[in-house]
Amino acid sequence: CGIVGYVGSQSALDVVLAGLKRLEYRGYDSAGVAVLADGGLASARKAGKLANLEKELVERPLPAGATGIGHTRWATHGGPTDANAHPHLDNAGRVAVVHNGIIENFAELRAELAERGHVLESETDTEVVAHLLAEEFSVCAGLAEAMRLVCRRLEGAFTLVAVHADEPDVVVGARRNSPLVVGVGEDEAFLASDVAAFIAHTRSAIELGQDQVVELRRDGVGDGVTVTDFDGRPAEVRSYHVDWDASAAEKGGYDYFMLKEIAEQPKAVADTLLGRIGVDGALTLDELRIPATVLKEVDKVVIVACGTAFHAGLIAKYAIEHWTRIPCEVELASEFRYRDPILGGRSLVIAISQSGETMDTLMALRHARDQGATVLAICNTNGSTIPRESDAVLYTHAGPEVAVASTKAFLTQLVACYLVALYLGQVRGTKWGDEIRAVIRDLADISGEVERVLETMEPVRTLARSLSDKRTVLFLGRHVGYPVALEGALKLKELAYMHAEGFAAGELKHGPIALIEDDVPVVVVVPSPKGRSVLHDKIVSNIQEIRARGARTIVIAEEGDEAVVPYADHLVRIPATPTLLQPLVAAVPLQVFACELATARGNEVDQPRNLAKSVTVE
Ligand code: G6P
Repeated sequence: CGIVGYVGSQSALDVVLAGLKRLEYRGYDSAGVAVLADGGLASARKAGKLANLEKELVERPLPAGATGIGHTRWATHGGPTDANAHPHLDNAGRVAVVHNGIIENFAELRAELAERGHVLESETDTEVVAHLLAEEFSVCAGLAEAMRLVCRRLEGAFTLVAVHADEPDVVVGARRNSPLVVGVGEDEAFLASDVAAFIAHTRSAIELGQDQVVELRRDGVGDGVTVTDFDGRPAEVRSYHVDWDASAAEKGGYDYFMLKEIAEQPKAVADTLLGRIGVDGALTLDELRIPATVLKEVDKVVIVACGTAFHAGLIAKYAIEHWTRIPCEVELASEFRYRDPILGGRSLVIAISQSGETMDTLMALRHARDQGATVLAICNTNGSTIPRESDAVLYTHAGPEVAVASTKAFLTQLVACYLVALYLGQVRGTKWGDEIRAVIRDLADISGEVERVLETMEPVRTLARSLSDKRTVLFLGRHVGYPVALEGALKLKELAYMHAEGFAAGELKHGPIALIEDDVPVVVVVPSPKGRSVLHDKIVSNIQEIRARGARTIVIAEEGDEAVVPYADHLVRIPATPTLLQPLVAAVPLQVFACELATARGNEVDQPRNLAKSVTVE
């Protein structure tokens, strides 16, 4: 969910709505706002996208006020209805609260409140907080103190922002797990799940830590922002300057963020490499701050991640095992800690996350640290929870990614994974020294190759449009092409809502080949004919097998690979790269394909149904 709070001298409603627009990627099942005005509190909320709420506000405007909060929701407790939308109010309508997370003991608290005569109107855990805050406020020193008292009673993960009509110059926030950042402007202050919500007003931010409560007051920012722990003791916070501006979070002439983000990939890749390859051609990753002695001792690498980041991890395994000879496992973060995995002081756990706040990944890394492992985060969001809680971090420099389906973040995650693999190889001095140096050189040029792929995508778009009435698309790959196939299928599911599956091409004959029937489109990612040519020859046989059974073959193959030509109904050319780096160019046509197919089917590309970009619940 996305949260915004504002206190200052502008129209709170305008600031909050503009902020919510920037946060809609975090959830778009429903939205709501509350404003303090004329000694009272006014609120509006609506199921569906933010546009529905905006319409409602035109029909039934709220009074103008300079203190307000807002929320855009990804439903957990209770369906996406008007009644379940945030903010939630107490019975007197004096307190409003918005929430991200899950309050685990809410049933118990709800029963307690009902006994004391409260009438709860929604099915959400959040409403309970509004009622508790109202109770505490009536007997304590103010909203911030009431928030601290309530937080001490809550179990689970929560980020809360609240206002009270009796304290019209105050917004209070509390944070456990899900992110919350303060924006400090001149005589105004902001609270949000992500700096994107207030970047148009200020680039000066304060990151809140775990279990902290913040009070924003209108009177003089500086003294206006007070942060404590849940017991009221002053807390330490980190102030920082956001190094990108509002234009980075806007569409800049593209119809969708996804199109813009696909186009930004060459730059994102180049930025992620910037300053990390030394003049001598060796990697300089001192920023990792993991001593070489520790890296030399690593006897096992475990990668944990979710969704697209998990696919980056699957590809990393091939690179890490090949260049370092260290065994590497890759696991879905949501499965990892419940399996009682074997970890120790010599294990290196790599947590990959664009947002840095995916709860499954966060829980997996906490489990790994508890077992004594060293945790390295690969992350795109400065100061987010996952890097904060890791021993080290390698940031990807993709810039803000807004479209729910990940594209540029994926490519930069791959780059970061290669950097880690190559660096481990470099530090440990494996027999692949020459190859490592050559690959570092190729990596330095790879953003130009990504650019070249982007220039040749028109036929892929035409093809995608022609397949918009298909029910199924299958994806095949071998070696690193296999996770690319999985990613291609995920993109299509997310965006086109089509049945799509990725398979290891070798596994085809063990089951999936039964799915092949007349004219089923099958996308095949073909490895380079150079280098590991066995792989190439095997996949050419696989293409023949499916074609013989009626499949319509869409073949993604290297320039100059003539062997595939007779079996390709559609041929998509990608530049020649070393085998292990091929995903950086092979993934791009699959992104374009899914995006175009979704558009042809009339789907909302940036905000696919039921999904959210950052999933901050387990
Ligand atoms: C959500 C998004 C996916 C993303 C995954 C992991 O499910 O819809 O696109 O890959 O979370 O996100 P992270 O921020 O941890 O990379």
